Amino acid sequence: MSRLKDKIALITGSAAGIGLATADLFAAEGAHVYITDVDGEGTEKAAAELLAKGLKASAMAVDVSRGQDVTALMRTIEQQHGRLDVVVNNAGINVRTDFRNMTDADWVRLREVNLDGIIRIARDAFPLMKASGRASLVNLASIMGHRGMRTLAAYGATKGAISALTRGLAVEYAPFGIRVNALAPGFIETALTERVLRIEAFSKALLEQTPLRRFGTGEDVARAVLFFASDESAFITGAELAVDGGMQAAL
Ligand code: NAI
Repeated sequence: MSRLKDKIALITGSAAGIGLATADLFAAEGAHVYITDVDGEGTEKAAAELLAKGLKASAMAVDVSRGQDVTALMRTIEQQHGRLDVVVNNAGINVRTDFRNMTDADWVRLREVNLDGIIRIARDAFPLMKASGRASLVNLASIMGHRGMRTLAAYGATKGAISALTRGLAVEYAPFGIRVNALAPGFIETALTERVLRIEAFSKALLEQTPLRRFGTGEDVARAVLFFASDESAFITGAELAVDGGMQAAL
């Protein structure tokens, strides 16, 4: 259990869901994990649990849509470790509404977190990833960047952009020893999907379209993040991996 031994890792939105599962797995694999989230209390709790197990973690309240938060975060990591070996761009939200009823404020919020936040982290972490000399950036895209579903058009647009960003950055960052890959989860049971998965008919229809006949867990996704974060994927950059129980493959 030391695939990330002595690595310095940053995970955004890691007080809950996929981010928290990833933080737990990374710490168990030997990384020092920066647990960051807009929910500052949640980050403290998550980090305290890891520290109590003798693992390495730091907590920080960071809203990725706020430039000053991200600047302060990078400054702190620079002072404490001087490098970042792994960055997981995970923080994301959904505004679930029929597209035609979406307000400007809904769209701006979605874009500020899901796209501006991801872009800001990928850009501002560059000097610290370069200092690593062997870094991995993992972006959380989505099946919704490739498939359409009612009420998810705008969310899907932000996620499709993340897939494109991943390919472009893989090319631009490669000369600096930074690999960039993305994950496209299907339906994962977290707070993000809790409300819709409770609708029985919807849930049943989704499972019928999922060859493995279950929803994913945060840990299912965390294991794939670990693959991209570790040297097991040393020759892979610009790739996107579906973690969706076969949903994208199915007709
Ligand atoms: P979640 O809602 O369970 O957790 C997201 C975390 O991000 C929360 O702790 C939240 O406080 C934090 N967060 C929200 N806005 C933030 C901000 N501005 N700055 C920093 N942190 C912020 O969501 P989940 O399911 O764990 O999603 C994680 C990522 O995976 C997201 O990017 C999501 O779009 C993506 N994803 C999730 C899928 C799912 O089925 N759950 C499917 C495909 C992609």
